[in-house]
Amino acid sequence: MNIEKIKAYLKLLVPPILLPVYFSKLYNRFFNRDKIIHHFEYESNFYSRHAFINRAISKYKDCKYLEIGVFNNSVFNTIPLKMKNKFGVDPIKGGNFKMTSDDFFHQNKHLKFDVIFIDGLHEYEQCQRDCINSMKCLNDGGIILFHDLLPRSFFEEKELQNKQSSWSGDVWKVAVELNNSKNVELKIINIDHGIGILKLKKDFQYIKMDNLKNESFNEFLEYKKKLPIISSEEAFEFISK
Ligand SMILES: C[S@@+](CC[C@H](N)C(=O)[O-])C[C@H]1O[C@@H](n2cnc3c(N)ncnc32)[C@H](O)[C@@H]1O
Repeated sequence: MNIEKIKAYLKLLVPPILLPVYFSKLYNRFFNRDKIIHHFEYESNFYSRHAFINRAISKYKDCKYLEIGVFNNSVFNTIPLKMKNKFGVDPIKGGNFKMTSDDFFHQNKHLKFDVIFIDGLHEYEQCQRDCINSMKCLNDGGIILFHDLLPRSFFEEKELQNKQSSWSGDVWKVAVELNNSKNVELKIINIDHGIGILKLKKDFQYIKMDNLKNESFNEFLEYKKKLPIISSEEAFEFISK
C-alpha cells in the first residue's frame, strides 16, 4: 500500500476538527478575521484557467505547450496535443520533466513554445525569472498565461501554502511589472485566482521595479486599481485576435 492510500485511510479515522487544516481554518476564523476577509470576488461564471489555456492552444497549428508547475496534472491532462508537443515541468509532482523551472530553461535553451502557462512556485522572484525565461523562448505571436495574479485577502497573498487551501503568493508583483513594461500587452481575467494573458510585441522589454520586494497585500489593493482586469468574454476575444 502506498503512502497516499495510508493517508487517505487515516483521514477517514480522524474527526475533521482534529485535522491541522480544519484546526487552522477555525483558528483563523476567530483570531485572524481581518486577514481572511476577501476584498473583492471573482466573476461568477463557468470558466476556469483550463478553458483559456485550451482556447490559446487551439490558435496554433502543431502547438508547442509548456507548463511550469504541474502538480496533479489537472490542466496538463486536458491539453489535447501529442506528447512530443507537451512539456510539463515540476520538481515534485506531475508533468514529464521532473526538475525546477530554472534547470529546465538552463538545459533546454534550444526549445521554443507557442503557449506557456506559468504556475510554479508562487513567489515573486521565481515567477519573475519564469516570466523572463519564458519571454525568451516564446515563438513570435505566442501567448504566456499566468495563474494567481489576483489574491483576494491578506492570507491568500502571504500565508504558506500548507496553512490554508488557496495560496496565490506575491506573483501579483510580476503583473505590476509587466503592466509597466515596454512593448508587451497584458490582460488579467477576473476568475480562478486571476489568470494573466501576455502577448509580446517587437523589441519587448521586461522592466523590474525595485520597490516591490517588500510590499504586500495593502499595496497590491492600490496597484490593482490600475491593472488591466477584464471579463471572460473579453479574454476570449483578446486571445483569439
Ligand atoms: C499550484 S501547483 C500547479 C498546478 C497546476 N498548474 C494546475 O493548474 O493544476 C504548483 C506546482 O509548482 C511546483 N513547483 C514548485 N517550485 C517549482 C519550481 N521551482 N519549478 C517548477 N515547478 C515548481 C510545485 O511542486 C507544485 O506542484
